[in-house]
Amino acid sequence: MDAITLLKEDHDKVKDLLTQLEATTERGVKTRTELFARLKMDLEIHERMEEEVLYPALKENPKAREIALEGFEEHHVVDTILAELEQTDPADEEWGAKFTVAKENLEHHIEEEETEMFPKAREVFSREELDEMGARMNEIKQAAKELMPR
Ligand SMILES: [Fe+2]
Ligand SMILES: [Fe+2]
Repeated sequence: MDAITLLKEDHDKVKDLLTQLEATTERGVKTRTELFARLKMDLEIHERMEEEVLYPALKENPKAREIALEGFEEHHVVDTILAELEQTDPADEEWGAKFTVAKENLEHHIEEEETEMFPKAREVFSREELDEMGARMNEIKQAAKELMPR
């Protein structure tokens, strides 16, 4: 599977988890905690796939460098909010407020990747290059999953 298709599939999964999490309440601590753990794990792997394969390749290209640098920074912001969320009591109303901010940031980032970065990647890389990147990303994903059985 080519890199972009693979990443978009991940995005759909992340968006689905965000919707499910949004529906949880302070009284549904168990579900909330489980879904959040899944979201965090999936995102960690997804970010690694992008930061180790796609973003560095985009950075090499003058036409795509800026958008790749922006991507790294947006990951950093999302990681920071998620780390805080992990330290917040899921039974506290603060959790919901932090989650809303995390969700908005993630949706914005995904939107920017899908509408700006990915079209740019299709423009600057050949079909073969995107396939090769997809294969490397899949290796990262499989290796990570072996370490973290569900
Ligand atoms: Fe990303
Ligand atoms: Fe992404």
